[in-house]
Amino acid sequence: MFETLSAPKLDGIIALMQAFADDPRENKVDLGVGVYRDAAGRTPVMRAVKAAEARIIEEQETKSYLSLAGDRAFLEVMESLLLGGAVPSARVAAVGTPGGTAAVRQICELIKRARPEATIWVSAQTWPNHLPLIAAAGLHSQPYRYLDRESGALDREGFFADLGQMATGDVVLLHGCCHNPTGVDLGLQDWAETAALLERRGVVPFVDMAYQGFGESLDADAGGLRHLSARLPEILVAASCSKNFGLYRERVGIAMAVVEPALRDTLAGTLAGLSRQSFAFPPDHGGRVVSTILRDTKLRNGWQSELDEMRMRVVENRRALSAAIQNETGSDRFGFIAAQHGMFSLLPLEPAEVETLRKNHAIYMLGDGRVNMAGLNAAAIERTARAIADVLRAR
Ligand code: LMR
Repeated sequence: MFETLSAPKLDGIIALMQAFADDPRENKVDLGVGVYRDAAGRTPVMRAVKAAEARIIEEQETKSYLSLAGDRAFLEVMESLLLGGAVPSARVAAVGTPGGTAAVRQICELIKRARPEATIWVSAQTWPNHLPLIAAAGLHSQPYRYLDRESGALDREGFFADLGQMATGDVVLLHGCCHNPTGVDLGLQDWAETAALLERRGVVPFVDMAYQGFGESLDADAGGLRHLSARLPEILVAASCSKNFGLYRERVGIAMAVVEPALRDTLAGTLAGLSRQSFAFPPDHGGRVVSTILRDTKLRNGWQSELDEMRMRVVENRRALSAAIQNETGSDRFGFIAAQHGMFSLLPLEPAEVETLRKNHAIYMLGDGRVNMAGLNAAAIERTARAIADVLRAR
C-alpha cells in the first residue's frame, strides 16, 4: 500500500539541523533552529526548571490521566501569563497541547470546523511551518505585507492596506512578539490600529506567541495580545513554553480561544474534542514544571531573572553583530539588526550567498537569510561579520 508515497520535503529548519549535525568542521556556527544558546553554545536546563522538576519527582503521587484539556493549574497560570487579566476567565477556553506547533494545528482545526471557507492571512515572511500546518488542516492562506526590506522595519503602509482588504470572517495570523523570521514587531500604537481595523472589518486575529519574554519583557511582549483580547469579541491564541522555559523537548503549548462568555463552554468542549481526535491528553510533565514555577514566588523570580539574562544576551549579540558588520563593510545597512526584537533577523542575502557562507565559512543560517542571534558568541560574531562582508564584496 505504500508504493504511492514519497517522503515530503523537510522544511528548511529541519533540513538545516540535519546538515549542521553532519558537518564535521569544528569551527561550525549554528545560526539555524530557534533554540537559545549561552556563550559556550549550550542550551542548559534552566535552574528554576531543575528545581521544579525535583519538587515534582518528590511530591507527585500518580501519573494517571488528567482531563482532555490538561492540568487546570497549567491552564490558569498560562492564561494569566498571556492575558494578564485583560479579560475575565469566563471568556477563555483553553487546552494544553504538545508544544506550540500542535497549538497552531489545533487552532487551524478549530477554524476548519467553524468556518472552512475562511482565508488565513499570514505575514509574507513567516515561520516556515505555518503554511504547512494551515494547509494540513485543509485551510486556504494568503500573504499580507509585513517587512520593508529596505529599512528592516514594518512596511506600515502595506501592512495596514492589506489588513483593510481582508473579508469579514477571515482570520489573520499575527506574531505576538519577536516576529519569526523578521524580528520586526508591532508597536502599541500599531496594535491599537490593528485592533480597530479588525473590529471594523470583522476579521478574527490568531496570535502565535512563541517567544514571550525575549522581546522587551513578559508583560510588554504580551501587550498587543492583551489589547486585542480586551477590544475584540473573538481571538485565537497559540502559545509555546519551549523558548521562555527552555522546555523544547518536553512539548509544552496551549491553544486558546477568547470568546463571548455564552460561547466559552462550546469552545472548551470543541477544543477538547479536537484533542481527543489527535493526541487525546496533552503531555503533563512540562506543563507541571511551568505551573510549579509560576505558582511559587521564589521559583518565579528566579525563572524571570534567568529569562532576563537570556534576553539581554540576545540583545547584546544583536548590537555586537550590527556593529561588527558595519565595521567590516563600512555601511550602516545592517543597523536594523540592533533595533529588532527576539531571536531572529532576516539578513538581506541571496540564497547563493547563504550557501557560500555555509560551504566556505561553516556558518549555517536558513536559506532566506534568517539568523538566530542566540547562536552567536564573540568569536562567531567576528567571523560572521567578516564572512558576510566577503560575500557582499563578491556581488
Ligand atoms: C524555529 O523557528 O526555528 C523554531 O520555532 C523551531 C521550530 O520548531 O521550527
